Amino acid sequence: MKELSLHILDITQNSIRAQAKLVKLVIIESLANNELTIIIEDDGCGIPADMLHNITDPFVTTRTTRKVGLGLSLFKAAAEACGGYFEISSTPGVGTKVVGNFMRDHIDRAPLGNMADTILTMVMSFGETDLNYEHDYNNQLFVFNTREIKETLEVESLNEPAILNWIREFVSEGLKEIQEIMEEALWQSP
Ligand SMILES: Nc1ncnc2c1ncn2[C@@H]1O[C@H](COP(=O)(O)OP(=O)(O)O)[C@@H](O)[C@H]1O
Ligand SMILES: [Mg+2]
Repeated sequence: MKELSLHILDITQNSIRAQAKLVKLVIIESLANNELTIIIEDDGCGIPADMLHNITDPFVTTRTTRKVGLGLSLFKAAAEACGGYFEISSTPGVGTKVVGNFMRDHIDRAPLGNMADTILTMVMSFGETDLNYEHDYNNQLFVFNTREIKETLEVESLNEPAILNWIREFVSEGLKEIQEIMEEALWQSP
């Protein structure tokens, strides 16, 4: 896929299908370690052990609409093609955690993509499910949590044009901020 955000959207849709109440998305970018790590964790139905051991086999799917499930296998292939790794762990009735790690400056690493738009798409497609998004850019942290926002605004749903516009700005500005702090620090170091 052209952008890692497309993998993220795809894998969070698995969580929605698994009836998760909360999806946690953590992105860790480290220039020092030359790593980009994406973690998607949910409290959905989980995956039975006998299915989990070959889950990245493209023919493993519980979909009935088509015979192949490609989301996890493509994400694994992308990570491994970039000198990184893929991990999945799951407990039925508890939830699932997916990790993709990439060498940040690997020539084949796709760009992350526009995270503000990606978060917006998630919020619009998640229904009742909440999202906790944490983005760590060289130890500068940005957090976006739909439960907190719903409580603050005293609304049940964020699926309103005015709120969605605000979310896009909030995420876009928040990510810009953590990146600028880092760039300034680099600029000032001797
Ligand atoms: N977060 C999850 N919770 C529960 N089951 C999952 C989760 N992610 C994946 N699965 C199971 O693994 C299968 C393969 O997932 P994936 O590779 O994304 O392909 P697809 O979604 O097209 O089936 C899914 O059909 C589903 O049964
Ligand atoms: Mg899928």
